[in-house]
Amino acid sequence: MTIQVDRRSFLMRSGLVLGAAALSRAQAVYAERLDAQDSPGGDWDWVRRQFNTEPGYAHLAGFFLASHPTPVRAAIERYRNQLDANPIRYWVQNRLDREADMAAAAGTYLNVPGKDIAFTDSTTMGLGLVYNGMSLKPGDEVLTSDHDHYATRMSLQFATARNGATLVHAPLYKRSRDTTVAEIVESVTSRISPVTRIIALTWVHSKTGLRLPVRAIADALAPFNVNRSEDERILLCIDGVHGIGAAAGNPAEIGCDVFIAGTHKWIFGPRGTGLVWAAPHAWPRIAPTIAPFGKHEPPGSLHTPGGFHSFEHRWSVVEAFAFHQQIGTQRIYDRVAHLNNHIKHTLAKMKHITLHTPLDDNLSAGIVCFEVDGLGPDETVDKLLTKRIIASKAPYEPSYNRLSAGLLNNEDDIEKSLAAVAALA
Ligand SMILES: Cc1ncc(COP(=O)(O)O)c(C=O)c1O
Repeated sequence: MTIQVDRRSFLMRSGLVLGAAALSRAQAVYAERLDAQDSPGGDWDWVRRQFNTEPGYAHLAGFFLASHPTPVRAAIERYRNQLDANPIRYWVQNRLDREADMAAAAGTYLNVPGKDIAFTDSTTMGLGLVYNGMSLKPGDEVLTSDHDHYATRMSLQFATARNGATLVHAPLYKRSRDTTVAEIVESVTSRISPVTRIIALTWVHSKTGLRLPVRAIADALAPFNVNRSEDERILLCIDGVHGIGAAAGNPAEIGCDVFIAGTHKWIFGPRGTGLVWAAPHAWPRIAPTIAPFGKHEPPGSLHTPGGFHSFEHRWSVVEAFAFHQQIGTQRIYDRVAHLNNHIKHTLAKMKHITLHTPLDDNLSAGIVCFEVDGLGPDETVDKLLTKRIIASKAPYEPSYNRLSAGLLNNEDDIEKSLAAVAALA
């Protein structure tokens, strides 16, 4: 059976990506491998069976940290055995090929040249490397929002404390639940000044479930950059961790200049993996922080922290990207939207629930955030756990509860969880 990304369209896309250059070994091998995969179609039970999650629970916090699906577990095991048998010899013989495989797989998934991707251990590490490395000086401004994860906030605080640039925080909306694209775009553009150099935002907010209209922000930003030199051009940097693998849109489609994400959440890659992509005009604005390992080709591998890593994990991210392609990326986005929209719209009708995720389906993705009247976020998590529902609370002030459905779930999980939340009244 042919998978969603068939060989022909893959080759055309790779051609665009690589220009006139022949496909590299890794890209050709990856393309053949994708072509040979059978698609499970819409068999979501098959997909669910690829995960070893504890039975009897509705896992509605899977977005936090990946459970490894079968192909990822198998690859980790394979590499671990080889590394245990002969660590340095296996590493020397395989490292460059495995890194090329990672670039081919991530580049294909994001539809960008693999050489423009740096590999990290997490979103947090990527944010630190990007913001720490940004060329900024006193008088420059960095614009961010009031709603980003502490990893963005703290990375920006550390960086601007060192380089003397000014950090500007803007609220993006009055009420997340009923915000609009126009309100968000206006909130960003009204704070841009002649000295704004970076806009640091988050694609899908883990505080409220808001999916930021990044494309609309990028379009509104374009006129501000028209007469700026490359050094002064405003770079739109996005923490994409809860968008990648959950919502449609690669970096070109959403229109950002720098894209930072972990691949150990919605991508279901090995725990301890992540990436940074930057456009060719943006990488020169970011200085490397950590020495790369041995042979490094700029920009991606120059910005990939060196040192020995848990290679069995990092190399196996290839299997996670291939798993998404096998199922069909659009199918996954549709599934995530379908399940979470059902959660959101059902919660919105409950009188004892205050929903914080936007009701507009174009402004939400895979996370639904809410409060229960009379219950604190910890109490809600505990009460749901007694019914074998794994919910979560967000690490923000104020903190809201979250239900998030994805490949780990079926419709029964959702109905059971909604019934349990209804019973909290
Ligand atoms: C929006 C956002 N950014 C960054 C992170 C940190 O991700 P990582 O664990 O990959 O560093 C999280 C954590 O879930 C998050 O919600």
